[in-house]
Amino acid sequence: MFSTQFVLSFALLLSLPLLFLFGPRILPPKHVQISLTDELDDLALFHRATLASLHPPGSISRLGRTNPKPKIAFLFLTNTDLHFAPLWERFFDGNHHLYNIYIHADPSVKLTPPGGVFEGRFIGAKKTERASPTLISAARRLLATAILDDPLNLYFALISQHCIPLHSFKFVYKSLFSPGSSRHSTRYRSFIEILSEEPQLWDRYTARGKNVMLPELPFERFRVGSQFFILTRPHSLVVIKERRLWRKFRLPCLNTDSCYPEEHYFPTLLSMEDPTGCSHYTLTWVNWTGSTGGHPHTYQPAEVSQDLVYELRASNSTYSFFFARKFSPDCLIPLMDIADKVIFRD
Ligand SMILES: *[C@@H]1O[C@H](CO)[C@@H](O)[C@H](O)[C@H]1NC(C)=O
Ligand SMILES: *[C@@H]1O[C@H](CO)[C@@H](O)[C@H](O)[C@H]1NC(C)=O
Repeated sequence: MFSTQFVLSFALLLSLPLLFLFGPRILPPKHVQISLTDELDDLALFHRATLASLHPPGSISRLGRTNPKPKIAFLFLTNTDLHFAPLWERFFDGNHHLYNIYIHADPSVKLTPPGGVFEGRFIGAKKTERASPTLISAARRLLATAILDDPLNLYFALISQHCIPLHSFKFVYKSLFSPGSSRHSTRYRSFIEILSEEPQLWDRYTARGKNVMLPELPFERFRVGSQFFILTRPHSLVVIKERRLWRKFRLPCLNTDSCYPEEHYFPTLLSMEDPTGCSHYTLTWVNWTGSTGGHPHTYQPAEVSQDLVYELRASNSTYSFFFARKFSPDCLIPLMDIADKVIFRD
């Protein structure tokens, strides 16, 4: 007896070679693709982290009795050495029970493993590339790993190897967790830039082709913002659970000049899910004056001074900037010189 099941399987089997024949023509050529294996790996990780959050392990009730303090998860996203590791080391010094560190380092780059507080803090990483959705995946991997690792991680700060701290750890911690930071509501907010009126927004929206983002994402809801954010735990969970927008944002760009998926995915998603729970500004300063090829101004050693630190801290929001980028690696020495006297003295 021919069952419909058999016919169906046969039809599927027949269609496989067709997929190989026409697949390459349907898919746009030459761009970095996230492989199915990588995608499934990530989904499994995100799923584990989501489940762990629903059913926190017994340890949390045990911790509950000792009234532990919430922690900040620092998520370092890099494809080179962590040039400013000694500066960050001094930033973290003496606060070990208030933070965790996680590093996503592009595995195709050979880097010198940093010691001290960074030792053994590398997470399962995959290749990252500019103008591709791989930077979104890397950030989500960091968020999921940090959620899974420690239920006390309540804030998640994304940092790059070009970022430096502008304040002491105590200042950052107090600003995030003090009652003042949730003045406008009873819950903590995420600090993520969300902008809707930027030049070239349309080019960025159509970078994967016209109408490709529809119907999930009409242009009116498309947002842009700095890649570097500080998210709350509930928002981090929203980000790792999300699938609908990701299916669009993971598509390769046809126009790589307008392709910055990581500057769009997070602000767009959070502005759709919880606009009032977000600051709409970032706490990581960046200097776009005189930028070239999508890269902001990179500070050089001669520019490093006490005045620069004070200047970069100044913001128009409730908070002064916590971090700044981009700094060239050889700024380490002048920065270390003013670390205790200026940067961490507040
Ligand atoms: C921003 O960068 C420009 C050079 O591109 C520089 O002249 C300016 O001083 C920088 N601004 C700040 C606040 O550092
Ligand atoms: C603050 O606002 C003033 C006036 O709009 C502007 O000139 C300045 O660049 C702003 N500063 C920052 C750090 O955004």
